[in-house]
Amino acid sequence: MRSDELLYLVTTISLISVHVAAECTRFSTNGSTAGNYDFYRFYDFRNIQSSSNNIPAVAEPKGQSEVFSAAPWRSGWDARSWFRPASKAQNLDMQYTPTEIFISNSTEPSREFSTYLTLHTTRLANGTQLAAELDYSEHNVTYASIRMLGRVRGASGAVAGFFIYHNDTTESDIEILTKDPSTRVHFSNQPTTEPDNDTPIPGSTFNESLATHQSTSAWNVYRLDWVPGRSAWYLNGAQLANTEVNVPDTATMVIMSLWSNGGNFSGQMNTGDEAWFDVKWVELLFNTTTTPDTRGGGRVCSADSPSGPPIPGVESYASPRPGSRITRACFWWLIGMVSILIVQ
Ligand SMILES: *[C@@H]1O[C@H](CO)[C@@H](O)[C@H](O)[C@H]1NC(C)=O
Ligand SMILES: *[C@@H]1O[C@H](CO)[C@@H](O)[C@H](O)[C@H]1NC(C)=O
Ligand SMILES: *[C@@H]1O[C@H](CO)[C@@H](O)[C@H](O)[C@H]1NC(C)=O
Ligand SMILES: *[C@@H]1O[C@H](CO)[C@@H](O)[C@H](O)[C@H]1NC(C)=O
Ligand SMILES: *[C@@H]1O[C@H](CO)[C@@H](O)[C@H](O)[C@H]1NC(C)=O
Ligand SMILES: *[C@@H]1O[C@H](CO)[C@@H](O)[C@H](O)[C@H]1NC(C)=O
Ligand SMILES: *[C@@H]1O[C@H](CO)[C@@H](O)[C@H](O)[C@H]1NC(C)=O
Ligand SMILES: *[C@@H]1O[C@H](CO)[C@@H](O)[C@H](O)[C@H]1NC(C)=O
Repeated sequence: MRSDELLYLVTTISLISVHVAAECTRFSTNGSTAGNYDFYRFYDFRNIQSSSNNIPAVAEPKGQSEVFSAAPWRSGWDARSWFRPASKAQNLDMQYTPTEIFISNSTEPSREFSTYLTLHTTRLANGTQLAAELDYSEHNVTYASIRMLGRVRGASGAVAGFFIYHNDTTESDIEILTKDPSTRVHFSNQPTTEPDNDTPIPGSTFNESLATHQSTSAWNVYRLDWVPGRSAWYLNGAQLANTEVNVPDTATMVIMSLWSNGGNFSGQMNTGDEAWFDVKWVELLFNTTTTPDTRGGGRVCSADSPSGPPIPGVESYASPRPGSRITRACFWWLIGMVSILIVQ
């Protein structure tokens, strides 16, 4: 192929991909709970400039998709201020506070990321537990596929949660407990016990094992799918659990939190103990009670294609999908070819 032909081809391919991306109005998922969603959001915490922390995030809408690279409190997540008194004598008061949520500077040598989001919890000397919660600003989510790349570390007694919530009996959870072995993760549709006699409800909760050599203290992609009549939970793309029990059927919120109330589920921290819930990115696909206007057509774009989502910018973000590395490699190969051609 002549070099000008190759250049033409490269340019055409780039224009086509940008054009296709701009037209996405529905977003599809894979797996046993595969579905289509009206909205796509990607929150990237991997390269946040501290100077940009005070600047509201501006996203470039592409169809119904938006991609943010900004602190969560600048991009549609509300950091909760909430005093939650102990519900039982043996439990602790909890103070949810925005100062327990911050952008951490990575100390790992990596060209891919320099920062990540951290939720922190600690037990104060006066007995109060400081805790962290981020509420997603869309409160009318009806069905969703929510994913995050995260890790949990620190002292026994904390619960890291990534979940959808309407009330205590309409709730679907991913929970990582620091008192558990670091190979375990919990998936639940609330309630998990009968309200009157506390007997367990079969099929409502799962205490799952990660694959061999994986640990919740290392980075993993956690995914909860909530579709009509069914919930499913995935780790690094593979389904670990699914159920038709207690599946929420009303509008919910999306929440990330790290807490400990000293109760039987979380366990209790010692004074001064700390734990951390670190998050590199959050990816949300969802519907809402308000359907967007998609007159004028549009197309369905996959959030789970092997080459990564077809959203501008996202394909280079969503690691550790093996495919995204290929896309990146292709991209840099193309850039390389173009520069070689230009030099010639
Ligand atoms: C989301 O809403 C669209 C219509 O706007 C519908 O086609 C789709 O099935 C819904 N997704 C789920 C998972 O219910
Ligand atoms: C991260 O580094 C920046 C300077 O590069 C600094 O302003 C910021 O406070 C640091 N953040 C934390 C949580 O230490
Ligand atoms: C404990 O200390 C925290 C932080 O100073 C404060 O907000 C909280 O009210 C205190 N709790 C009690 C029980 O005094
Ligand atoms: C949720 O939907 C209701 C109407 O159904 C609306 O009044 C409310 O503002 C919405 N809330 C949010 C946070 O989107
Ligand atoms: C939770 O919300 C659902 C749906 O609105 C309702 O049926 C149920 O009674 C609520 N549960 C509690 C504990 O308030
Ligand atoms: C989950 O299972 C592991 C392994 O069996 C166990 O050690 C842990 O206590 C369980 N966690 C809870 C909260 O039941
Ligand atoms: C914890 O479990 C024990 C025994 O199973 C029970 O007596 C106690 O009430 C529970 N505590 C809480 C806070 O639920
Ligand atoms: C979904 O797609 C991703 C990316 O192609 C892949 O890694 C994952 O294994 C798939 N999961 C299922 C359940 O098909």
